[in-house]
Amino acid sequence: MKVLPVNHSIFLILQDVSLANIMETVTIHDKKFSQSISAKKIRAVIHQMAVRINKDLVSKDVVFVGILNGSFLFAADLLRLIHLACRITFIKISSYSGTDNTGNVTHLIGLNEAIKDKTIVLIEDIVDSGNTLDSVIKDLEKHKPAEIKIATLLFKPDAYEYKRKIDYIGFRIPNAFVIGYGLDYDGFGRNLENIFAEME
Ligand code: IMP
Repeated sequence: MKVLPVNHSIFLILQDVSLANIMETVTIHDKKFSQSISAKKIRAVIHQMAVRINKDLVSKDVVFVGILNGSFLFAADLLRLIHLACRITFIKISSYSGTDNTGNVTHLIGLNEAIKDKTIVLIEDIVDSGNTLDSVIKDLEKHKPAEIKIATLLFKPDAYEYKRKIDYIGFRIPNAFVIGYGLDYDGFGRNLENIFAEME
């Protein structure tokens, strides 16, 4: 067997240039996406958001609640910059057809922190119509938290159908379908470090 010498300089260069950084378009099934927000911009915005949250919630008893699956990367990157003494948990929403007036019933899975009288910070990947957020908030309110704040990486103001204020917003984006950095199309694309928007 021939053992090749390790070339350290090539290894270092490859480590710095990830595949997603050099890809400007991504195709998943029938859809083509082009790069829209770089990993560098995402990092900068998350840093600013963390500074604000650290300042705003300094004297509060905080539980961060990440909404899976989409928020997993955003939550991880945001929370490592949070210096508050806080608890962190994740929930998942299962939705199924039901008999309420929207035709959908949602149900939270995995809330195992006691949230009564606590400040909750919900961590979302994206707020589009706001329906998901609204149903999560309604469920959480049954546990009588002191207050619920919302931190979302992406917000589509033109699609948002609610009056409730979003406390922390990373990027306001137009009504395009986006993938990457936790967001998927048919389960694909969550691992991309940049955000890509669907091409017309
Ligand atoms: P909403 O209930 O309409 O606000 O939508 C929220 C959920 O829909 C998000 O948590 C995402 O899972 C999904 N979603 C909305 N817009 C997009 C998008 O552009 N790309 C990927 N997922 C999206």
